[in-house]
This record gives sequence, structure tokens and C-alpha cells, in this order.
Amino acid sequence: MQRPGPFSTLYGRVLAPLPGRAGGAASGGGGNSWASLGSHVQPPRRSQSESGGGTDGTSTRSGIVAPVFPIFSTMSKAEEAKRLAGRAAVENHVKDNQVLGIGSGSTIVHAVQRIAERVREENLNLVCIPTSFQARQLILQYGLTLSDLDRHPEIDLAIDGADEVDSELNLIKGGGGCLTQEKIVAGYASHFIVIADFRKNSQNLGDQWHKGIPIEVIPMAYVPVSRAVTRKFGGVAELRMAVNKAGPVVTDNGNFILDWKFEQVHQWHDVNTAIKMIPGVVDTGLFINMAERVYFGMQDGSVSMREKHVC
Ligand code: 5RP
Repeated sequence: MQRPGPFSTLYGRVLAPLPGRAGGAASGGGGNSWASLGSHVQPPRRSQSESGGGTDGTSTRSGIVAPVFPIFSTMSKAEEAKRLAGRAAVENHVKDNQVLGIGSGSTIVHAVQRIAERVREENLNLVCIPTSFQARQLILQYGLTLSDLDRHPEIDLAIDGADEVDSELNLIKGGGGCLTQEKIVAGYASHFIVIADFRKNSQNLGDQWHKGIPIEVIPMAYVPVSRAVTRKFGGVAELRMAVNKAGPVVTDNGNFILDWKFEQVHQWHDVNTAIKMIPGVVDTGLFINMAERVYFGMQDGSVSMREKHVC
């Protein structure tokens, strides 16, 4: 079967679509290549139970690994994309004897599922450090080894989702309110890899994500912090309110969240530093110059990878 070469994205690195999807070759038009231009991105695999036929859901020829399974149509495109990104990151970065940082949100669930499969199938020895209560539950639910920064202060690899990724791989995080622990874990990791669906891919922060930049604050200071942020940088900083509880969202650390809706593109490094200096601020959802690689699951069933430019 003839395989078309990788197609190009804005960022030049690509993975081809899965069979039967836009740009792919469901019937007789060739297949797909996970080989990317100058990168070594592996396709996400299905477990034996998922592929249903006793295979790992891939075929290999000439060093190219091509998925041969259909995508379940019942999953939404975004959910499929999250799954593909999460599994691709685990395929490419998780190795035996690692200490892993486990992010929070919905995309990380797919990565944890694949980590658990690989632990079972390959007998990997991994230790997992959570970034939230949710991540801790996920680690326990999937039977992975739970640890903490007291016992494992150095993390080999952190994997996490993001709310938005700009062209320089700066991130907005904290849509789920877990930004402070997420930043701690990513900050003490040798490698920080981000997984996201196509909706998170932006040129500038704020292009796609309109809920603002989360800022975790000590409760007694939320009013003066909100005023200080807007006085310095404009926009509006709103206290995040809970949905099924009266009153504000309370983070895993017992704090509040302000969502700062900014009005223009800023020098994010400087803004982040300035906001962190405001008394009462715990941390911000701006992750500047931290991610080294981002896997985006795309609408057409491919995975696109972007890396930090090395100057
Ligand atoms: C939680 C986060 C999440 O990583 C971010 O909100 C992405 O979530 P999802 O994977 O559900 O899109 O920062 O604080």
C-alpha cells in the first residue's frame, strides 16, 4: 500500500491522518505515515482490548508505524484528539524507571490510561507525582504507584494538558483550577510535555481561550489583587464562582481563583513576573518558556507536534 508523505502544518512537523479520515485513505488511496519531518513521533496505540483483534492496532513496515484501526465515531472529535495526543506523548516519552508528573484535566486521563496499559504490558517501573486531587485519584484508580515531592523531589517527565498554547509554546493553564501544583510539578521536571486538542492551538494567547488567565490568590487578598492586576494591566479580574456550591471555587490549596480577562497581547514573561510580585498572589496560570514539546490531536485524526525553538 502506498503511503502519502507527511503533510505540513503551520509548524512544519506532522503526523498523517488516520485511515478513513479527511486527508487519509480509507479505501485504496494509500495509508498514513507517522514519520514526521525530522521528528520521531510515534502513533498512539490501542491496547489489545481496544483493538479487539488481538493485535496492537498498528502495522509496521520500513520503520513506519501506521495505525490500521478505525476511530470510534461515538467519540467527539475533540475527545478523539485528546486521546490521540495523550497516547502519542506516552508512546514517545515514557520509559522504564521514570518519576512522572501527572497533570490535571480531561486530556491527561487518556495519557494515564495509556501509561497504565504500558505498565501492565511492559512491566514498567514508574512512580507518579500528582498535580491535583483529581490527578491523585486518577493515579490510584489506574493502579499506578503514587508518590510525592518529599520522596521524589526530582521528576523525569511531567505530562499535562493546557487551555491554550501560543506560537512560542507559552501556555495558559488553570482552567481546572490546579495551576499552582501543576506549575510546581512541571517546574521540577527535567522534561515538560503538553498534550492538547486542536482547539488549544493559538498564535497569541487569548486567540482561542476567552476565559482569562487564572490567578490563584490567598482568599483575604482577592479584592486588592484584582484591583492591582487591572490597574497595572487593564482588563477585568473576576472571582471564579463554583457551579454546584454557593460561593467561590476553592482550590486544592484552599485558595481562590481570579480569572483575568486581558484586553491585549502582553509581554507575558514580564506580566507574569509582575503579577507574581503582587502581595496575595500564589501563582498564575501563565506557563512561560516551560513546555518543551506540545502534541496536538487534530480534527482529521492526526497528531501534530510542536517543539520549542532552540536559539
Ligand atoms: C487544570 C489545567 C488543565 O490542564 C487544563 O485546563 C486543560 O484541561 P483539559 O485537558 O480538560 O482541556 O490546567 O488546571
